[in-house]
Amino acid sequence: MNPAEDFLKRKLQERQQAGNYRELKPENSRVDFCSNDYLGFARSLVLKQSIAQEVNTNPLSLNGAAGSRLLSGNIRYAEDLENQIADYHQSEAGLLFNSGYDANLGLLSSLAQRGDTIILDELVHASIIDGARLSYANRYSFRHNDLESLEAKLKLAKGNCYVVIESVYSMDGDTPPLTQILNLTEKHNAALIVDEAHAVGLYPRGLVCELGLQQRIFARIITFGKALGSHGAVVLGSNTLRKYLINFARSFIYTTAAPFHQLAAIKMAYQLLEDSREATISLKKNIDLFKQQVNTGKNFTLLNSDSAIQCIVLKSNEMAREAAKQLQMNNFDVRPILSPTIAQGTERIRICLHSFNTENELTLLAVTLNKFILLHA
Ligand SMILES: Cc1ncc(COP(=O)(O)O)c(C=O)c1O
Repeated sequence: MNPAEDFLKRKLQERQQAGNYRELKPENSRVDFCSNDYLGFARSLVLKQSIAQEVNTNPLSLNGAAGSRLLSGNIRYAEDLENQIADYHQSEAGLLFNSGYDANLGLLSSLAQRGDTIILDELVHASIIDGARLSYANRYSFRHNDLESLEAKLKLAKGNCYVVIESVYSMDGDTPPLTQILNLTEKHNAALIVDEAHAVGLYPRGLVCELGLQQRIFARIITFGKALGSHGAVVLGSNTLRKYLINFARSFIYTTAAPFHQLAAIKMAYQLLEDSREATISLKKNIDLFKQQVNTGKNFTLLNSDSAIQCIVLKSNEMAREAAKQLQMNNFDVRPILSPTIAQGTERIRICLHSFNTENELTLLAVTLNKFILLHA
């Protein structure tokens, strides 16, 4: 056998033996407690119709962009959309990327130069870690949401320093002490970058705007594949940052631009967001209801989160898999989050709540969970 093929087989076997082998699962009709469709936009018929109408009213639009933004792929519509989104989030400018992964990769890899410093919260998303790795900067991580640990790393920083956090953490659902972190970064002359992927929806403009900190943040990443129910992302910041990324962010430069229908979907999703006060209220109500009803006992922990992401730490891949299996057998789509995606000993089930989950569904979910927890206490 070809040694490369042999290597692949061995690595996959290792995964299987460790109980963390990944495979793609077909879609299912269980009650959704898994997707990032927090406000139901991905399944919204109203949004579907408005996207179709927008595409139809632009008959000259191409099916595919047929080039990168810097070559044939730029259209006025994309630039207008960037301005609209930037206005909505009260930013000077914005630049679209084809995904949140691309946005973080392009932003972090292009900003920090050799001799500069990037400091990451230890729980930031893989796309941020990968972007930082692609730069030639010195890299540090600080203990999750820990100001002392952050300050210790800020004191080590050389060159330009970038601190990267999320406003709602994707795997824990919690929120950082944003104002204190910002004060600290300002004290040390560092630039703060906030990934708002999971905050938009719960906070329509994101947590940064909710706290009125938008003028003081160097850059924000907003993704469209979660509460906005579409796909893509924008980096928000100054006009200079936008121009810089157009010149230096490789994941922006060397890729075909998003097709028109993706841009139309994003534009229409933002229109719907303006009208979604009720969906946001329902989401908040469901978060409260879930937290009131779940009883994790002494052995397990419900992580401290006010967001749509609620996690119960079950401490092993086996237990997390078993809990997810029980819930799935009861018609709930809940998935286990296993190591190595997260640290060993913190394996969990991650429950994503939505505006459209009914009270009955939430109660039945909590009852099933509580039974499982009691049985394994
Ligand atoms: C915090 C965070 N940033 C970025 C991304 C990547 O976004 P996208 O799915 O649009 O590539 C994710 C996706 O899971 C995320 O959770």
